[in-house]
Amino acid sequence: MNKLIEKASEEHNLTRDELITLLREDALNEEIFAAADKVRQKYVGDGIHLRGLIEFSNFCRNNCCYCGLRRDNKNIERYRIDENTIFQLAKHASENMGLKTIVLQSGEDMFFDCDKLCSIIRKIKTLGVALTLSIGEKSLTEYQAYKTAGADRFLLRIETTDKQLYLDNDPGMNWENRVECIKNLGIAGLEIGTGILVGLPKQKTESYADDILFFKNVHADMIGIGPFIPHPDTPLKNAKGGDLKTALKVMALTRLLLPDINIPATTAMETLAPNGQIRALRAGANVIMPNITLTEYRKHYELYPGKSTTGYTPDESLKDVKEKISALGRFVATDFGFHLHKI
Ligand code: 5AD
Ligand code: SF4
Repeated sequence: MNKLIEKASEEHNLTRDELITLLREDALNEEIFAAADKVRQKYVGDGIHLRGLIEFSNFCRNNCCYCGLRRDNKNIERYRIDENTIFQLAKHASENMGLKTIVLQSGEDMFFDCDKLCSIIRKIKTLGVALTLSIGEKSLTEYQAYKTAGADRFLLRIETTDKQLYLDNDPGMNWENRVECIKNLGIAGLEIGTGILVGLPKQKTESYADDILFFKNVHADMIGIGPFIPHPDTPLKNAKGGDLKTALKVMALTRLLLPDINIPATTAMETLAPNGQIRALRAGANVIMPNITLTEYRKHYELYPGKSTTGYTPDESLKDVKEKISALGRFVATDFGFHLHKI
């Protein structure tokens, strides 16, 4: 085995330069994927955790250049799902679909203030599920309130650790503040989910190495890595976009360095290639997030075009995911899938 891959597999540490060497060398890709698959099996096993995703509002106060939900995009119909419908979707997911985690995701929508969110969190927690939020930058006090109401985890991608690239793509936002928010999630006692986009214009190989070291540094519990897919109603509509191979490589190296965390095979990976998620599950991923939003809303939650599950109902999304899992010879995990801290 290549010496660096061997070191990463055994010590779960690489220097920035070593990461860059592996990121640059495409002849080693299959070896990196196989090593990440082995480390995944050793630390988190063959069970795949399913997280039911509810996209409950597509209003957003931000204007990220890559995202179809950006506030300047007037070509989308904005919606909010009401509290009771959100609860009914979560109930169906828990009682009829057997899902153990519900993820509530939205743009940064100020309509759902802390009281409204805490009320939804308390209601969903009566179902006996784990609850993840993915609703953007909030204060430490708010993160603490969500935790007290029963939330378990929170997803907030750093998007990129290249500060200039972040500022170029997320106008009006502040990179240091985002890092502070990610750290505050941990202070509030929530599991920390973060991650990046791969393939933004001018994103460098060196910065992927920094991203992976950042994940270690903030003690991330979950890492989501998605190729950037240009959206026609955004300033980046003519950009080239990310490729699956690079996204898989950054993901596999993340598995080697953070061996016991949860890593989803992301929907963006599937959107780039019909077997994208299967390839991810063979290269370090152990989580899938089936979309359980009602079909009528899905087409309006277009972060990027061509999202693979847009036309599906919640039950069809689950069926699709379960078929992929059996094709791989793996199984759906029956526990909540918290980060087990094995190292
Ligand atoms: N392509 C891929 N992923 C995107 N996201 C936003 N826009 C795009 C896009 N065009 C991702 C961001 C955000 C997550 C919810 O969706 O990384 O954190
Ligand atoms: Fe809003 Fe998130 Fe899209 Fe940025 S990436 S515009 S914060 S929904």
